[in-house]
Amino acid sequence: MKNCVLANTSAKQRGMTTQTTDLETLERTLMARVEAANDEAALEAVRVDALGKQGAISALMKNLGSMSPDERKTFGAALNSVKDKISEAIVVKKATLAEAALDRQLQSEAVDVTLPPVKPRLGTIHPVSQVMEELAQIFGEMGFTVEEGPDIETDFNNFTALNFPKNHPARETQDTFFMNAKGADGERMVLRTHTSPVQVRTMLKQKPPIRMICMGRTFRKDSDATHTPMFHQIEGLVIDETSTMADLRSVLMAAIKAFFEVDDVRLRFRPHHFPFTEPSAEVDVGCDRSGGTIKIGAGDDWLEILGSGMVHPNVLKNCGIDPEKYQGYAFGMGIDRLAMLKYGMPDLRDFFAADTRWLKHYGFSPYLLPGLAQGVG
Ligand code: DAH
Repeated sequence: MKNCVLANTSAKQRGMTTQTTDLETLERTLMARVEAANDEAALEAVRVDALGKQGAISALMKNLGSMSPDERKTFGAALNSVKDKISEAIVVKKATLAEAALDRQLQSEAVDVTLPPVKPRLGTIHPVSQVMEELAQIFGEMGFTVEEGPDIETDFNNFTALNFPKNHPARETQDTFFMNAKGADGERMVLRTHTSPVQVRTMLKQKPPIRMICMGRTFRKDSDATHTPMFHQIEGLVIDETSTMADLRSVLMAAIKAFFEVDDVRLRFRPHHFPFTEPSAEVDVGCDRSGGTIKIGAGDDWLEILGSGMVHPNVLKNCGIDPEKYQGYAFGMGIDRLAMLKYGMPDLRDFFAADTRWLKHYGFSPYLLPGLAQGVG
């Protein structure tokens, strides 16, 4: 506080005026500081300096006691007015600062509702995984369990137990990849050529009734638009005392309707030969090819989709099951092929090219798992 000495005034006048002038200076200074405070902390510092216990105004208040009644009246009133003005200015400034802070916060947290939604950072589900999940749902609903087996199989499980005669040309029809390593039986291990060895594995470890599917990788020396050296199959096996070809037909009918989400479907059983079934049948599904694409469940054309039959008594015997007491059916289908038919991919080789553009286009959201309630696809 600077003392401002004014000339040509009486001592009394001078004292009063000096004090009043000091007050004006104090008020201007404090007001300027209040004005300049640009956050709550700075404003609080001004408040403490002015109105706090040790503050400038409080200090002047303490002086009032030593003044004459006249001085006290005039100076006290002036001091109170300064105190009120500063207090009010602080309250007003505080509200202004709070408002500005809220504005800044609202601005920084503003959401532009016209922007497109944020894309999930997760990738997509591969159509083969999607179709496997759909098939597990469909067959699970019909009481099938899900079994698994390894990609590298013994010759016994892949061929011998399934009634492929030794050194028989039937083994050649499978375009087998043989491993160098030999299994316990002294035979070379193979990359399984079909999922049928999981039938053997299941029957060896489990007594009937058996009602299972198995899905997984299979391998054959083959490559074109509809064949890749690695592909996927689903296998089905039912063994009990009564199941027949008619049961096979109704299960396949229900599964295909659910999978392709159609109300009606035609199936045609054509006699065929597989070493592990007797009788054996290839199954065609009714389709329409008139529009350049294949539509399942309509039209008067046929498309072969699976192999099936009644499990051969020799297979049951090879797996320790009495063919006099038990019987059942089996079927096998290409999963990739089912995916192509349902979701319209033209070339199988793209499935395994790991091209993220293809995966983005044909993949499925990881948030939408298939369920029967909303239609499996
Ligand atoms: N394993 C056969 C294949 O890959 C498909 C097959 C046919 C499976 C008939 C079966 C069946 O279970 O009964 O060509």
